[in-house]
Amino acid sequence: MEVVGAPIRVQSIAEKDLKLEVPPQYIQPPENRPSKPSNGNATDHKIPMINLGGDRDVNLLCKEIGSACSEWGAFHVINHGVSTTLLDQIRKVGSSFFEDFPMTEKLRYACDSTSPASEGYGSRMLVASDDAVLDWRDYFDHHTFPLSRRHPSRWPHFPPNYREVIGEYSDNMKVLALKLLGLISTSLGLSSSFIEESMGEVYQNITVSYYPSCPQPELTLGLQSHSDMGFITLLIQENVAGLQVSKNDGWVTVDPVSHAIFVILGDQTEIITNGVYKSAVHRAITNGEKARLSVATFHDPAKTVSVSPAPGLQPPPKYHEVVYGDYVQSWYTKGPNGKRNIDALLI
Ligand code: OGA
Ligand code: NI
Repeated sequence: MEVVGAPIRVQSIAEKDLKLEVPPQYIQPPENRPSKPSNGNATDHKIPMINLGGDRDVNLLCKEIGSACSEWGAFHVINHGVSTTLLDQIRKVGSSFFEDFPMTEKLRYACDSTSPASEGYGSRMLVASDDAVLDWRDYFDHHTFPLSRRHPSRWPHFPPNYREVIGEYSDNMKVLALKLLGLISTSLGLSSSFIEESMGEVYQNITVSYYPSCPQPELTLGLQSHSDMGFITLLIQENVAGLQVSKNDGWVTVDPVSHAIFVILGDQTEIITNGVYKSAVHRAITNGEKARLSVATFHDPAKTVSVSPAPGLQPPPKYHEVVYGDYVQSWYTKGPNGKRNIDALLI
């Protein structure tokens, strides 16, 4: 949790400290540093790119989705139905918030640093203890669904179209997430609404992450290794790479593909599919020259919903049933710590 005192944002450290050294709290232990040589031949692998265009044969599409979900737990989608203008607009308003306005203005939207997952402008998400290594990242988290959680007055009023763009983007991402969960269900021989119905009301958060350029990219991480907790995350980035997905003990960099959307399966999808599909372990590295922006849209169940393996999917069940709120709580208590939180549920 953020310590009391003046709120710290990485961007202000990056702008002030021109001495080429990051403060010690941001230095990763050697085993987590991006410079560590990777064991696998991860670079030989290519992250799947799936065309969702309307004229595709559904069986073929589901087959592609099935292999991407079992081999990677992550894939790009193109012809996804979301307008490229909207993708460009959200990247633009996101960058503008971080880069074009003074810190004092931005801090008017500071999140409540004493409560996890609080909406607003922050820097330390999921910091379990005061001695944890910190991520080289600032972010703005927006609560967007259900609509009862959506309060645009809590989002930046600059640049002027910021709130409108977030609202429109949120609506579009929800439609795409449900479409993908339908295809994922179908690809497993479940009814297309199986995952959607198990999830119940969709809780959606949009996190715009800003990774300032870092004087020591070899020692730091923008975001430590983790898997996402909910069902499905849809992510777009600007044209600066940094996101990496774990594969065969190595890390594969997710190349920015300008109008593609990157899909990341979360832990609840792994549970409900009884491990047939995997949640993707991923992290963000930093860049020595350029700042990087990403927009991640998370789709989760309500905290009271229980998730368990779908009956009949490669029995016996491999995961214990879990109340989503308890799952989130254990994440916040222990911190991601590079481990797969989900492994605690293995039977
Ligand atoms: C996340 C995440 C990666 C990125 O916010 O959960 O994995 O590239 N972000 O910002
Ligand atoms: Ni993530």
